[in-house]
Amino acid sequence: MADWDGLRSRLEQCDQSHLLQYLDKLTPEQADKLYLDLNGIDFEKANQYFQKCNVNNQTCEKKDSCLEPLEKDSIGSTTRDAAKLVDWERIGMTQISEGKVACLLLAGGQGTRLGVNYPKGMYNVGLLSHKSLYQLQAERIVKLQQLACKQCGGDKAVIPWYIMTSEHTKEQTVQFFSDHAYFGLHKDNIMIFEQNTLPCLDFNGKILLDQSYRVARSPDGNGGVYAALHQSGILDDMKRRGVTLVHVYGVDNILVKMADPVFTGFCVEKGADCCAKVVKKTYPTEPVGLLCKCEGKYQVVEYSEISMETASKRTPDGNLVFNAGNICIHLFAVDFLQSVCCSHEHELIHHVAKKKIPYMVDGTRVVPQSANGIKLEKFVFDAFQFSKSFAALEVLREDEFSPLKNGPGADRDCPHTSRAALCDLHYRQIMKAGGRFLDDEDTELPLIPRRRQSVATSQGLCEVSPLVSYCGEGLEELCAGKRFKFPLHLSTDEKETQQPPMKKHCLDTN
Ligand code: UTP
Repeated sequence: MADWDGLRSRLEQCDQSHLLQYLDKLTPEQADKLYLDLNGIDFEKANQYFQKCNVNNQTCEKKDSCLEPLEKDSIGSTTRDAAKLVDWERIGMTQISEGKVACLLLAGGQGTRLGVNYPKGMYNVGLLSHKSLYQLQAERIVKLQQLACKQCGGDKAVIPWYIMTSEHTKEQTVQFFSDHAYFGLHKDNIMIFEQNTLPCLDFNGKILLDQSYRVARSPDGNGGVYAALHQSGILDDMKRRGVTLVHVYGVDNILVKMADPVFTGFCVEKGADCCAKVVKKTYPTEPVGLLCKCEGKYQVVEYSEISMETASKRTPDGNLVFNAGNICIHLFAVDFLQSVCCSHEHELIHHVAKKKIPYMVDGTRVVPQSANGIKLEKFVFDAFQFSKSFAALEVLREDEFSPLKNGPGADRDCPHTSRAALCDLHYRQIMKAGGRFLDDEDTELPLIPRRRQSVATSQGLCEVSPLVSYCGEGLEELCAGKRFKFPLHLSTDEKETQQPPMKKHCLDTN
C-alpha cells in the first residue's frame, strides 16, 4: 500500500515537493511508478550531497601548497626498467595461471560525448574486423589465458571478468555478450553487475524530473564501483574463486592490456595493495589528471586544481615535475578492495559535473542546450588515499592509452584516433617481428611511422587479431621476412566470432 501522506511529508521536509506537481495528471500506473521511484530516494542524503559540493561557489582552490610528486622508489617504468620486464611478466603469468587475477571493467558511463544510444563497449571504431571494444577486450582475455596455460602449465588460467554496468548500459550489454556467445569466453566467468544511480539536481539542489512520473537519474560515477561490488556480492565471488588481484580499467581505451602480466608482476614485486598505470604528461596545460601526493596521501588532482607555475615546473632532465598522467588502469589487491568497500566507501566525496539534463518544464520534456543541472559522481581513484603501499608504473602512451570519448569528427579521443592508435601499434609490432610494409609504389615504409603521422591515416588499416597475439608476441613466425601491403588483417583460422577472417594481404616471402 502506497503511503502518499508519508511521502508528501518527507518531500515537504526536504523542500522537494515539486516532484509531485504532475500527480493529478498521471494514470494510476504512472502514479505507482512515481511512488516507487520517489520512495527509494533518501532526500535528506541528496540534500546533504548537494550542500557538501557547494555547487554555486566553485572557485577552484589550487592545491599547490600540499602537493608532492610520487616518491621515486614507488614508480617503475616499462622503458627505464626494461631489464625487469621479463621477470615482471613471468611473475604475472604465474599469478594468472594460478587463477589469482581478475579483470574489472567500468562500463556504467552514459557516454554522452560519444553520443550513441547504446553502451560504449559495443562501439566499432571502424577496424577492418569491425570488432567492438567489448570484443577486443574479450579476445585479449582469451589469448592471455592460453598464453598463461602454455607458459606455466596447468589449466587453471581463468581470468574472471567482472563488468560493472548501470541502468543505462546493463540490458544491452547482457544481450550483446549473449548474442556473441561471450566471444569465446566461458559464460560463467563473466559477471555483469549494476552500479547505483543518484538523482540529478538543478543548480538550487532541486531534484529534476525526467518525465512527469520519473526522476532524472545518472550513474553514481565510476567510484560507484565500491558500493556496487559490495552490494552485488562480487567481492565474495572474487574470494570464492581465490582471486587476489583485480585489474580495473575504463571501457573506452582501445589499447588496454587486459590483466597485463607485466603490470601484475610489477605490483607483486612492489608488494603494493594499489597500483596505477601512468603516462608522461607532455605539456603543462595538458588536460589530464595528475597522480601525486597531497598531504601525504595518494591522489589524482585535476589540471585545473594546480597553478600554471607548479604545472610548468621541470626537473633538471627536462621532464615536468608533476608528470604522472592518470589513465584509469589500476590494479587492486582484493583485501584492499574489501577494506575500501566495507570501511571507507562513505568517505569518498561526490564530484560535481555540470551537464545538460533533459527535464520537465510546464508539462513538457525539454532537452536543454546548455548545462542546467548537476550529476554527482564518485571517482574510482579517490580510493588511492587508503592505500598502505602504493606504486605506479609508467607506460608508453602510444602503446597503452587511446580513449574513445568523443563522436566522429572531433579532433581528439574519437573513433578515428582510437582506430589509428590500434593500427599504429600493430604496425610497430609487425615491424618489430621482422615484417615490412610497402606503399602503393612498392617502396618500403619506415620502421616507425613519421612523427605525428599515423600509418592508419597515411597508408591504410592494419590489424592483428588479439587471438593471434596479445601484445606482439608470436608474430615472428607469421611476419619475419615478409612484406605486406595495406589493408592487412592478421587473424586466426579459428572461428572469428563476428566477421569472416579478412584476406591476408601478403606479397612475398623471402
Ligand atoms: P567518463 O568519465 O569518460 O564518462 O568515464 P563516460 O560516461 O564514458 O562519458 P561521458 O562523460 O558521458 O561522455 C570513464 C570510465 O568510467 C566509466 C565509463 O564507462 C568509462 O569506462 N564510468 C563512468 C562508469 O563505469 N560509471 C559511471 O557512473 C561513470
